[in-house]
Amino acid sequence: MLSASGDSDLIAFSKPFIAGKELYYIAQAVERGGLAGDQSFTRRCHAELERLFGSPKALLTHSCTAALEMAAILAGVGPGDEVIMPSFTFVSTANAFVLRGATPVFVDIRRDTLNLDEKLVAAALTDRTRAIVAVHYAGVPCEMEALLAIASDRKLWLVEDAAQAVKSTWRGRMLGSVGHLGCASFHETKNIISGEGGALLVNDERLIERAEIIREKGTNRSQFFRGMIDKYTWVDIGSSYLPSELVAAFLAAQLEHVDAITEQRRAAVDFYQSVLAPLAQDGKIGLPATRLRDTGNGHMFYLFARDVEERTKLIAHLRLRNVHAVFHYVPLHSSPAGRRYARTGSDMTVTDDVAARLVRLPLFRGITRLQQQHVVDAVFDFFRA
Ligand SMILES: Cc1ncc(COP(=O)(O)O)c(C=O)c1O
Repeated sequence: MLSASGDSDLIAFSKPFIAGKELYYIAQAVERGGLAGDQSFTRRCHAELERLFGSPKALLTHSCTAALEMAAILAGVGPGDEVIMPSFTFVSTANAFVLRGATPVFVDIRRDTLNLDEKLVAAALTDRTRAIVAVHYAGVPCEMEALLAIASDRKLWLVEDAAQAVKSTWRGRMLGSVGHLGCASFHETKNIISGEGGALLVNDERLIERAEIIREKGTNRSQFFRGMIDKYTWVDIGSSYLPSELVAAFLAAQLEHVDAITEQRRAAVDFYQSVLAPLAQDGKIGLPATRLRDTGNGHMFYLFARDVEERTKLIAHLRLRNVHAVFHYVPLHSSPAGRRYARTGSDMTVTDDVAARLVRLPLFRGITRLQQQHVVDAVFDFFRA
């Protein structure tokens, strides 16, 4: 199974999985006859997510990208406004605000968590700053106390990009439930999946009614469905941000296993981190500064090569050993669209350094110890050679 011959033996970087009753629930949704959004499986997911996150309102979306776009509309940002965020993130964090005409202002990250460096935020604020986006990289919490204080002092919206952070906590609170708005992802590479999928957590109750309208194409259809009005109409800007019942049915089944899925991933992360420790002690690789298992949800495991050339060689070596390892992100401040639509609000030393050296190892629900051992052996072999 782990021979070096052919793709069928490849240890994938990420793999979608069935946790329980997904196919049964999809069949039920079909039998019930309504496959558009906001029917019984969507309502079930909303209730489950509100319980899980402790948020007053969860709204399923077709992606975390959609949830971020809703957050940008709810934050009311427009041309000339600025939004603080890391450059070391996925494009959707920035695009959502650029689509409103606002300007992302990139701030460097901390070396230990790879999250926004809260100490650099104050210097990047201007009188046009309207919001801060806290991206919880690898499910590890940002320094929320400092960010909450800045947001409150300067009357800014605090949006959590919790795409990677479902079931991670900060001081006992679920990430995604701490800022005014939280955005989660159920993309197939995440911990809890529905193919594509996401949710907006509306933690500030003043935003709930408008969030429902924006998600339903700018209409008050949600109120109509609840019998609060006799006909629905166009009342605001919006789009179609809701997923079909098929997606909600799949997600409902996954949510029933959220604890077991998270625990298995945490154990897998812990294994990588402990078994690779000797290589880090010898100065051959860098490991995450925090114990990822303790601070997060086991979303990801990464290590650092010593420079970009070594990283390229390591990834190629692993591929020859049938291990699919990847790197990300190309920092947004150095990408073509980032240069056109955004600006930097600090020096980007840590972002540039980390982005050149980070390697993500295979991690998915169901990865076996044997597979992980093979990955680790391949990493050791590279440094022995
Ligand atoms: C930090 C971050 N934000 C946003 C997204 C977008 O999520 P989705 O694919 O659900 O739109 C991702 C996806 O990888 C992400 O990692």
